[in-house]
Amino acid sequence: MQGHATIHRDFTIASIDDRLYSAFIEHMGRAIYTGIYEPHHPTANADGFRKDVLELVRDLKIPAIRYPGGNFVSAYKWEDGVGPKEDRPVRLDLAWRSKETNQVGINEFARWAKDADIEMMLAVNLGTRSIEDARNFVEYCNFPSGTYWSDLRRSHGAEQPHDVKMWCLGNEMDGPWQTGQKTAREYGHLANETAKAVRAFGKDIETVVCGSSNDEMPTYPDWERQVLEECYENVNYISLHNYYGNNSRNSLNFFAKVERTGRYIQSVAGAIDFVKAKKRAKNDVFICFDEWNVWYHNREQDSKNWSEWDWPEAPALLEEDYNLEDAIFIGCLLNEFIRRSDRVKIACIAQLVNVIAPIRAEKGGKAWATSIYFPYQFASLYGRGTALNVAVDCPRYDEEAAQDVKYLDVSAVLAKDGRSMTIFAVNRSLDETMSVDMALHGFGNARLIDHQVLGGNANEARVANTSADPNRIKPRKGEKLDVVDGAVKGELPAFSYNMIRLALD
Ligand code: AHR
Repeated sequence: MQGHATIHRDFTIASIDDRLYSAFIEHMGRAIYTGIYEPHHPTANADGFRKDVLELVRDLKIPAIRYPGGNFVSAYKWEDGVGPKEDRPVRLDLAWRSKETNQVGINEFARWAKDADIEMMLAVNLGTRSIEDARNFVEYCNFPSGTYWSDLRRSHGAEQPHDVKMWCLGNEMDGPWQTGQKTAREYGHLANETAKAVRAFGKDIETVVCGSSNDEMPTYPDWERQVLEECYENVNYISLHNYYGNNSRNSLNFFAKVERTGRYIQSVAGAIDFVKAKKRAKNDVFICFDEWNVWYHNREQDSKNWSEWDWPEAPALLEEDYNLEDAIFIGCLLNEFIRRSDRVKIACIAQLVNVIAPIRAEKGGKAWATSIYFPYQFASLYGRGTALNVAVDCPRYDEEAAQDVKYLDVSAVLAKDGRSMTIFAVNRSLDETMSVDMALHGFGNARLIDHQVLGGNANEARVANTSADPNRIKPRKGEKLDVVDGAVKGELPAFSYNMIRLALD
């Protein structure tokens, strides 16, 4: 199969916000407890956080992390997680039918995030709580000193404010599963009033309002319009969430689902533009895709466990053994985020450790990277700079999820210093090598400095990194590409994800 692409230095889409490669972690399953935090683990630091997990997290260079939920946040009292640990109450978490010990709260998490070099993005509870609890939380986190809440924080050992700039106004408030579900108008009004209170703490504070829980919700996309009509001027972002699966075991259909995500982003962008015009608003609202991932392998097992649960503490939930096919899908999804970086400014892989995650950690045992870790890591390391508009010409296919889908999926990013460019390319074909010819214009002398490949054999689509074989899937050096006569030429193996780096002189 032949694939042609043209990349021009001046054909730009947008300057990518580094936060496109952010993450999400929730008090859920074993994400926090026995995931990042396990005081009795051999690698635990003085705060009880696992250093082996921290190492894997650091290597991802994550810019920002959304916390503490998710559905969990909709009945959470943040005050339960501060002060002496021995005085903190154990609560029932309604979202995941678990016991929450509150041994990790905002101050511990802030220390972990600092160690991991990640900026926090906090969510407030707009399910069971309201404006006052949200403003108290912001004051506790951000105000320097001399007030009730700021001095309480200092008395808890956090002398310096956490200085949190990004605040999420609740979570998935349209969902019937949500504690405190609301109509679009109810939620939009509450979000607006809460945003005003939160933004009173500083001009640099940003707010994220909840969009639909996904594009299959019956109220989508009217929810977006109605919510934004209530709060447009006081929010900076609207959230999108989507999880993907391949129950039909049809890889091509699975990969085609990314096209649908493009339409989802486009429709929400349309709702934003409509409300902006209707309100004659001056400000822009961007998209925060703050939950995305593959999620399906363990649904059946978890629902079986559900009836057996007796409010356990940190149960194993949604612990996916991601396979090669999932990694290739994630490569395509990240490509779509790069291509839509004009509207999508923040995106968070959901989640980070153990629960639908790129990192797995055994209680008392080892930690390892799942297959999806690698495309996420490559995008985070090399996908920063300016997104370029790549013209692609190649054979296409039709599937139920989308028609006219290109076998060759590409995004390209010019580095901030203009001295390198990275091409992320997926050959979606199950069995055909792709002969590529990617013409480079306006880059001067380009030299191949790295080509990393994941996959190359569709018979291994369901092979995964597991506890028994944690290194089964990992990138290897590609050998069949080079820059010849101002074009990247060579072969992309069938069923593969490729990270191609060029030095520009
Ligand atoms: O990430 C798991 C859950 O998925 C989150 O708690 C919720 O927001 C979404 O439905």
